[in-house]
Amino acid sequence: MADGPLDQPRTAGYEADPAEVRRVLLLYSGGLDTSVMLKWIQDSYDAEVVCLTVNLGQPGEDYAVIEDKAKRLGALECHVVDAREQFARDFVVPAIKANALYGGGYPLFTALGRPLIAQLAVDYARRSGCDTIAHGCTGKGNDQVRIEATVATLAPELKTIAPVRSWQMGREEEIAYAREHGIPVKGGTEVTPYSIDDNLWGRSSEGRWIEDLGHAPEDDVFQLVTRPEEAPDEPETVTVDFEAGVPVGLNGERLELVELLERAAEIGCRHGIGIVDHIEDRIVGLKVRDIYEAPAAAILLTAHAELEKLVGTIHQNQFKPSLDQKWAYLVYAGLWWEPLRADLDAYMDAVNVQVTGTIGLRLYKGNVRVATRSSPNAVYDADLASFAESGGLFSQTASPGFIELWSLQSRMAYRIRNRGKDGGG
Ligand code: ARG
Repeated sequence: MADGPLDQPRTAGYEADPAEVRRVLLLYSGGLDTSVMLKWIQDSYDAEVVCLTVNLGQPGEDYAVIEDKAKRLGALECHVVDAREQFARDFVVPAIKANALYGGGYPLFTALGRPLIAQLAVDYARRSGCDTIAHGCTGKGNDQVRIEATVATLAPELKTIAPVRSWQMGREEEIAYAREHGIPVKGGTEVTPYSIDDNLWGRSSEGRWIEDLGHAPEDDVFQLVTRPEEAPDEPETVTVDFEAGVPVGLNGERLELVELLERAAEIGCRHGIGIVDHIEDRIVGLKVRDIYEAPAAAILLTAHAELEKLVGTIHQNQFKPSLDQKWAYLVYAGLWWEPLRADLDAYMDAVNVQVTGTIGLRLYKGNVRVATRSSPNAVYDADLASFAESGGLFSQTASPGFIELWSLQSRMAYRIRNRGKDGGG
């Protein structure tokens, strides 16, 4: 058997049999990989290609240009979908309610975007009569898992192909292929670009020197957030209003969700907020270093967590982080459709019913610090110091009795462990 990319053995049931690929829905970004793919699929599979480009709020995209490029490269149709609102409402808001950070620092913007992109791919594939979905993920990352798991879950009748995983072309070969097939290649060809993924919740950069753990971040990686040392010398205060865990206003102004997220990002960018240099445990085994810029997440997650703590009891506040962590891991690991995630959401929603109020943050040269807090549901009373003023809820004279019982087991255990020693029982 020849060993061309199409002859590679198929491992999973959802992988397409090349002989059966007739019409492919390609997740198209307009970049080099997916543009080469658009031509390559038509040639290698003798198949038609329908393109889908999803707008999740990635800054600086010109969707008319992308659509035009797809058409010129032979796409049968090119759909551009503005999914920002759905992304914000159905993916970012649950993440805020779950204080979602993976590995202590990654606000999951890419991980949240993939299931939505793949869900839209399924919708448009069905509408356009496609039998196969193609994406541009490599075999090294989490994104292939998130996309293929979604397709296999939602549409068992559809197959997938991942050309970058199988076509055995490096960047040089891709550029040569592009030249040969009249695919415009933008930018210089000497320096490999960073691998970027972004949306309105954040932006990640991987590759090049970032893979060298001894290499401190170079300035050119920060295309979104102002470097903290160049941020204004004056701090800025921003207040965030929440209703039932959902951010609804900034600096006292009520805003629609997408606009609120975009404005929070803008303010954060100005002050160098949300830079994360992260070593990540990938689900595919590798450890990878990513540089993240997530200004909106840094502001809104900080404010939300603080407000939630103010309205929650000590017991809720000790318990919820373990569920938050489980939620973040499921989403990171590509299991958005796992029922446990929905079960956890029910808990997150229940807790967040109380999360109404306002948090004031001070932003200054890369730092976010909570400055003010207020909530009608705060489990807090500045007058609790005296029995009379607290309406009988708190009595300082009851403290010694409490302390005697609270410390009982510890005191007994201490005695037992110190039997026979000086001062022991
Ligand atoms: N490491 C992050 C994740 O696994 C970001 C991935 C970014 N994707 C990309 N194709 N550059 O979610």
